[in-house]
Amino acid sequence: MTMTRRSFLESLGSVGGTALVLAGMEAFGMGTASAQTLPPALQGGGKGKSIVILGAGVAGLTAAYELTRAGYKVQVIEARSFAGGRSQTARKGFQLTELGGQPQTCEFDDGLYINHGPWRIPFHQRSTLHYIKQFGVDVELFNNDNDNSYAYFTKGSGPLAGKRVRKREIAADARGHAAELLAKAVQSKALDQQFTADDKELFLSYLDSEGYLKGAAHDYSGTDGRGWIVKPGAGLIAGEEAKPYALTDVLHSNAWKVLSSVSEWDQQRTMFQPKGGMYMIPTGFMKHIDPKLIRFSTVVEKIRQDGGGVEVSVVDGKGQRSVVKGDYCLCTIPLSVLKSIDNGLSAAHKSAMNGVAYAPVGKIGLQMKRRFWEEDEWIYGGHVYTDDADIGSVSLPSTGWMGRKGVLLGYYNFAANAAKVSALSLQDRTRHALAFGQKVFPGQYAENFETAFSVAWHRVQYNLGGWGVWSEEARARDYPVLLQPDNRIYLAGEHLSHLGGWQAGGIESAWMQIDAIHKRMSAA
Ligand code: ALA
Repeated sequence: MTMTRRSFLESLGSVGGTALVLAGMEAFGMGTASAQTLPPALQGGGKGKSIVILGAGVAGLTAAYELTRAGYKVQVIEARSFAGGRSQTARKGFQLTELGGQPQTCEFDDGLYINHGPWRIPFHQRSTLHYIKQFGVDVELFNNDNDNSYAYFTKGSGPLAGKRVRKREIAADARGHAAELLAKAVQSKALDQQFTADDKELFLSYLDSEGYLKGAAHDYSGTDGRGWIVKPGAGLIAGEEAKPYALTDVLHSNAWKVLSSVSEWDQQRTMFQPKGGMYMIPTGFMKHIDPKLIRFSTVVEKIRQDGGGVEVSVVDGKGQRSVVKGDYCLCTIPLSVLKSIDNGLSAAHKSAMNGVAYAPVGKIGLQMKRRFWEEDEWIYGGHVYTDDADIGSVSLPSTGWMGRKGVLLGYYNFAANAAKVSALSLQDRTRHALAFGQKVFPGQYAENFETAFSVAWHRVQYNLGGWGVWSEEARARDYPVLLQPDNRIYLAGEHLSHLGGWQAGGIESAWMQIDAIHKRMSAA
């Protein structure tokens, strides 16, 4: 029997499972499982049908933009006084009061900001990049990994623990020592069973390259990339390379935990960010959506539906109550919030919503009057890596290079650590962040600090969490239920994607659901 491409691929499935089949199909150009990169066409138009969209975050804005272009009547209800949902930027005058928290007004200097929500965009999130391009949003590179930045690990032992160490030193030494050991094992014939003679030679060449090994003995003695004691310069200054740390010190420091030679799919070394702040993305949408279509500062109190349509009872900022009617409803309200609204959803949907948890996440922006990380340490963007989970990481800004002042991210914490830090007063959160920074940048950090802005997303009224988190069981049991419409109500948002915590998840789930609404309506 001749094996067709498809039967070959199906046979892979019996050995390797669906993922392997899909990967194989993609290699043959037969893939169907890739993420969507363009909005659905919505051919034939909306024929005057009306859609009520709940939420003007990026999912709601996407739906409003695409549906109005296709000829649907759209009304958007938004609890906040501005568009963008979590795609916010704290800048001068920006206000936030967490539930039970102290009011905050951002006092950063003009032009300085922190993206306390989404802050970086990978090259493969084509949906987000699609709108960036469509709306002419100016972007710049976001430096997501900087070898010249520091690792600061406290839980190890030995001379490198509890000490700032340049990432490049750890990276070079961990790779160098590991490659040398492996090369020596190969040379001593310990791995002869694994190789043909040819492969053995090639493998040794690869190890030389991977670990900066030198000579017939394949020794690691450092490399210029790990740094210099005396930097090369003019005239007679040839420079002197720094010597490697001992392998045992690198291992015991734990700092090698920051290393990975291939970036994670979501976390590329260089990413994108909009110039001026992430709020430029919703600003881009708002230049192309009639603002009259959005009722800001209006909160959903009740959702009802029957065979004829959907009714949403709302209350505006002045306490005026009204009912918004539509043929269908696209609800992008985070499930953490939707659960506590009288939402009129079926028992199956209500029960499925309980399957998702929302991530406790905290960030703090610290305005520094001098860019000491650039001026003194020569670090341009990237993160300070640490095992202090209350801090998570410190990030140096990828904007305003070589300017005078800057706002750095003083912590980015998750789960129990985010909960713990978020329970502190605003002043104590700042103190906590400064105390850590002072260990990495002694005499520079606290001395240059001017003003802070912090957020704990699990305490933000209309979010109650950073993003949806699905357990494996809930993803299998509940998630498919929520992808289906509950009669005339469709749900969308990053929580209904496999791109949780990314704007692309919101955009692509909106695309998926407006396509579904459109197909249903066109078939009716
Ligand atoms: N997408 C979020 C980030 O990059 C979680 O930090």
